[in-house]
Order: sequence, then C-alpha cells, then structure tokens
Amino acid sequence: MFRRNILSSYTSRWTIADALKVHADDPTTTMPVIAQDFPTMDESVMIWDTGALRNIHGQTVTFKGWHVIWSLAVDKIDLTNADIYDEWHSRNNRAYIGYWYSRTGNGADWQWGGRLLNTSADLRPHEWSGGLVMREGTGNVVDMFYTSEADSPINQSVPSVSSGQIFADENGVWFGGFETTTEMFSADGIHNANSQQDEYFDFRDPHPFINPADGRLYCLYESNVAGMRGDFVIGSDEQGALPPGFEVGSGAQYGAASIGIAVLADGAYKKGDFSSTNWTQLDPLVSALGVNDQMERPHIVFKDGLTYLFTISHHSTYSGGLGGPDGVYGFVSEKGLFGPYKPLNASGLVLGNPSAAPYQTYSHFVDPAGYVQAFIDTLPGVGEDPNNPATFRIGATLAPTVKIELDGDRTFLTEVHGYGQVYAQAAWPVGAAWDKRPAN
Ligand code: FRU
Repeated sequence: MFRRNILSSYTSRWTIADALKVHADDPTTTMPVIAQDFPTMDESVMIWDTGALRNIHGQTVTFKGWHVIWSLAVDKIDLTNADIYDEWHSRNNRAYIGYWYSRTGNGADWQWGGRLLNTSADLRPHEWSGGLVMREGTGNVVDMFYTSEADSPINQSVPSVSSGQIFADENGVWFGGFETTTEMFSADGIHNANSQQDEYFDFRDPHPFINPADGRLYCLYESNVAGMRGDFVIGSDEQGALPPGFEVGSGAQYGAASIGIAVLADGAYKKGDFSSTNWTQLDPLVSALGVNDQMERPHIVFKDGLTYLFTISHHSTYSGGLGGPDGVYGFVSEKGLFGPYKPLNASGLVLGNPSAAPYQTYSHFVDPAGYVQAFIDTLPGVGEDPNNPATFRIGATLAPTVKIELDGDRTFLTEVHGYGQVYAQAAWPVGAAWDKRPAN
C-alpha cells in the first residue's frame, strides 16, 4: 500500500539542494591523509566504533585519573594477518563491546581491558554502538547504552542499556555488573520505519543526553523515515531550492534516513529505570528523505547557545545519484533541540575522507570541545594499483584525533593530534567506598 510519510512540523530536512553543495577535498572539511605506517593499538583485537567515557551532559570524563574508552571489537582469529581482510569485513557478525584504559589518553598508551558486558547480558548475538555514561548522582554506576542486534530470522535492532560499576586502582580499570540488558524502545512504524516497512531498516546507536533547556533526558538514535521502503514522494520540502533544469535522480526515494529522538519519563533517570514504559518516541529531528539512507551514530553538542547535531554517513548510502565522502555530517539549530536545523557549512559535510583515501576513516564522534575521534578502516593499496586488495591496509585501530572549530553554522578543521588521543573535559569525583578491588 502506498503510504506517504507525514513528518512532523518540526522535522528539519537535509534537502537535495543542500547535498548538491557537498564537495570532497575542501581543506576545511577533509580528514588529513593517514600514513601507511600507522600504529596499531593492540595486535590481538580489531576495533572500530569507539567512544570515550562521558557524563550525561556530553563531557568526556576521567575516572580516578584514568581515561577510558569503549570500542566495538572482534578478537583476531588469524594473527598472521593472512585472512585479515575477510575477518574485517565480516566483523559485524562477531561484534562485542570492549574497553581500553590509559593514564594519559595518548594513543600509544591504551591498554585493552577485554569485554565490558557479561555474555549473560546478551539478548541477541551482536553488540553494536551506543555510549558509556557515568550515571549522574552516583559514585561509580555506569550505563552502557548500546544496540542489541540480530540478523536472523529477521533483522532485529533494539536500542538497549546494560548497567554496571566502574572500579580503578593504581594498576588499572575494571568493571562489575553488566549482567542483564534492558530494551529501551523498538522501531514502531510510526515515528520510524520498522522491519515490515523496510527490510534494511536502521534503528540503532542510542545517544542519551540531558537537554539544558528543559533538564529532561532525551535519547537520539539512527532511524529511517516511517513508511514502505521506496514508496516516498520526494516533494518540494525534500528537494529544496534546486538549480534550474535539475531533475531529481531516479531512486531518490530510497534515501530515507532520519535522526530519531525519544524522551525519558521525569524521575526515571534518578531511579536508573530505562525500561520501555518510561520512553516516549517522538518524530525525528532531521530527515534525509531523497538524499541518503543512513545517518548513523547521531550525537549532540550544545555550544554558544547553539545546538549542533552530528551524524556519520557513507558515500554508498546517498540516493538519486547524489554523492559525498564517508565522514561526519552536521546540522545546527539556533532555537534549541527541536530545531529548525540547517546543514552546517550549507551542505551538511563537516569532515569527510579525502578522495585519495575514500575509506580511510569512519564513525567520527565530535565531543563538546570539538575533538573528533574516528577509527581507521581501509587505506588504499600502495604501488601501481591503489585498488589492488592485496595491498590495502586494514586499520581496525584508532585514527589521529583532529579538532574542529564550531563557528556558528560553519566548521573548520584546525588541529591534528595523535592516533587515538583523548582529551577529557571533567574528572569524575572520587569516593572511598568503591575504591577497593572486590575480594572475588
Ligand atoms: C557505524 C555502525 C553503527 C553500528 C555499528 C555496527 O560504523 O554502522 O551504526 O552500530 O557500526 O558495526
């Protein structure tokens, strides 16, 4: 059945006209080319999406002086590197969340801590992205928001949370708890597409935060516009101000990404109660209908009275003949969380891969100070044929951290830092009661 999606009045559009302004290789919006001889954090694991331990206001925090990050991870099966290409490209089928700690936050110092969640917490086989957040008002309670994912018998993807405690002493960081998982909300076919509407639906990467304007806890997530896949009408709202004679490309309607949002019932955060009855899903903040089918890992920065929304996307998920580099895109609102949003830099592109190395990095995450962390995916081959897979170099480790300046509705790449460098903006308070390693 044909069903035209009715997006709410506040949903902002990333339009076709905006996306026509996306250009690779502008030096202010392009990641530096990564050297072929980049260092690897740990030879026994491959990691990709990564995030720093943070507070619910978005600041990266240290815990008792330790920097902590989580990563999606798989253990390397073949340490000789022979099958690394296949292992890397099938990694989603074995993904689990692991963690690292470091005294300095320097890339060279990260120590691998192993699994974060107990396998008893797994409701589905795969643990995908989310965020690791110190629980406000507690000494050492920490919530891992993540995506519980399965691809059979049907595609299932549920934003979820598992909670535990963080501990540290002079030798390192470890965790307790993380034994169960609470599902927060599911794709409902009303605010976002579900699996019946779109077998390729995306519904993942929960990012909770407190909105400073109303003090309520909201959660962003990756989603698609509700409605049957491919049945959307790409009207004037989705097109924007197109140049004369421009025709919307065929297949544009297969681009239906959205940035979803839900709100937690008042009082539930204090109780640490994230169960589904406490969440209300709202209409999406931004839609990319007619432009792109994926806006992943959405996250938010409040700065200078402006609200910045960031999301990662791919060249391959653009629709209707549009294109742009893999990287981080963004939107800004002058009027708070519910917009209206306009694309940063007019196009939406904030930091893309250089065209000389189109798959070198992904899963960029912008912190409130403007530091952007990403992982190295695949560097092009060296020698005569850059497309020869035999000479690709797989990353599976963190990229150089870069800094961007947020200047109103424009962004500028201004600094390049070390591989996997993390800077904290706050220290988590230290108590005495939870200072000791448990006896067992
Ligand atoms: C981004 C992403 C996330 C997802 C994870 C799965 O790189 O696609 O949306 O949670 O990777 O590996």
